[in-house]
Amino acid sequence: MSEIKLEHLVKKYGDGFAAVNDVSLDIRDGEFMILVGPSGCGKSTLLRMVVGLEDITSGDLHINGERVNDKAPRDRNLAMVFQNYALYPHLSVYENIAFPLRLQRSRHPEPEIDEMVRRAAGLLELEEHLERKPANLSGGQRQRVAMGRALVRDADAFLFDEPLSNLDAKLRGQMRTEIARIQRRLGTTTIYVTHDQTEAMTLGDRVAVLRRGILQQCASPRELYEQPVNLFVAGFIGSPPMNFLPGRVEGDVLHLPIGDVPLPEAARAAATGHDLLIAGIRPELFEDASVLDRSRQAGGVLVDLDIDVTEWLGNELYAYVPYEPDPAVRAKLDELDRDLDGEGMRTQLVVSLDAQSRVRDGDRARLWFDPARMHLFDPESGVTLTRDEEVAARLDAENEDLRQGSLERARRAADRAVPA
Ligand SMILES: Nc1ncnc2c1ncn2[C@@H]1O[C@H](COP(=O)(O)OP(=O)(O)O)[C@@H](O)[C@H]1O
Ligand SMILES: [Mg+2]
Repeated sequence: MSEIKLEHLVKKYGDGFAAVNDVSLDIRDGEFMILVGPSGCGKSTLLRMVVGLEDITSGDLHINGERVNDKAPRDRNLAMVFQNYALYPHLSVYENIAFPLRLQRSRHPEPEIDEMVRRAAGLLELEEHLERKPANLSGGQRQRVAMGRALVRDADAFLFDEPLSNLDAKLRGQMRTEIARIQRRLGTTTIYVTHDQTEAMTLGDRVAVLRRGILQQCASPRELYEQPVNLFVAGFIGSPPMNFLPGRVEGDVLHLPIGDVPLPEAARAAATGHDLLIAGIRPELFEDASVLDRSRQAGGVLVDLDIDVTEWLGNELYAYVPYEPDPAVRAKLDELDRDLDGEGMRTQLVVSLDAQSRVRDGDRARLWFDPARMHLFDPESGVTLTRDEEVAARLDAENEDLRQGSLERARRAADRAVPA
């Protein structure tokens, strides 16, 4: 059992800069919690505050109901895995994994250490490499050793700081599923830092999105994707990212650079009092009208667009459509782009079409999309005007049920695996 509670945590470095600014999070027992955000948003600082490597300027940190602000790292019983693995080069894999056990106050007898090391090595498929030195291992194997060293300790929680960012894309994918499998199997509370939104979405029970030290939204991956609270979250989650288009409101019509669309019923109230909005449309909401079933076209709108460049990927086709941005929202979108580590490419629309589409560079293409699935944002504050709190709450409850279910299944599978 371990629950970690962050209450109004603030970290100010020597120069007075608030790297973490009033972050509150409740991490549930057995939960896989992700901290995600662009480089420099305070993820590592927050994780280091939890593990005790960084002092807490203000706020409270509770582990299992106990305030631990002033506890030394070694008394918090948390196991951390770093990005650079931090292995001891002169020690074998076996001794690297055993190291934290030899360090612990409660001295373990040698046969016990041996059993614990071999169990961790088994879980990570490192049995054959126990006598080797880290220098002779592949990147993926080194990462496993670093994980083994965390697993062996029977810690209350695992903390990961970008553990996969030194691996190539293929290995990263493999290790990702491995970490997910092990976490489920052990049911250990986990906090995992990454700047990679794919990792965040695939691993997390819940994902906490940070921007400049401030928590934006903590929710299930699905809720972040479907019901983001603001422009930042909407733009950060999803690949290729959500398109943001300036929209002028006139009665029940929204004038977008790609054409006029009727304001959906549910969005009318949200748009009240705004002349100018930012519309968010995910690339995959667009379809090539010429390959779309007529029966599916009801309710949507058709727009004729000049396609600049296309990229055919086999399973889908990306098409890029440049447009003239409205100067009134230009500054806001530029700022957002900087925050998202973008390259200032936001004045082109990206659409992801069915791979059957024959749209090619330079074509004028008829595309279809359903405005009811469009998000609308306040151009000043960036707040999502179309967010549906009821739907969000339902997604949240559903997510928690699924999490409990998979923990339960993992527990039963583990029980079966242990010989009577
Ligand atoms: N020891 C330090 N002294 C002063 N500023 C720091 C220190 N460590 C980090 N920072 C600053 O705090 C902010 C958050 O850093 P960090 O937590 O490392 O971000 P992330 O892990 O999200 O990339 C950054 O602006 C960084 O420059
Ligand atoms: Mg970091």
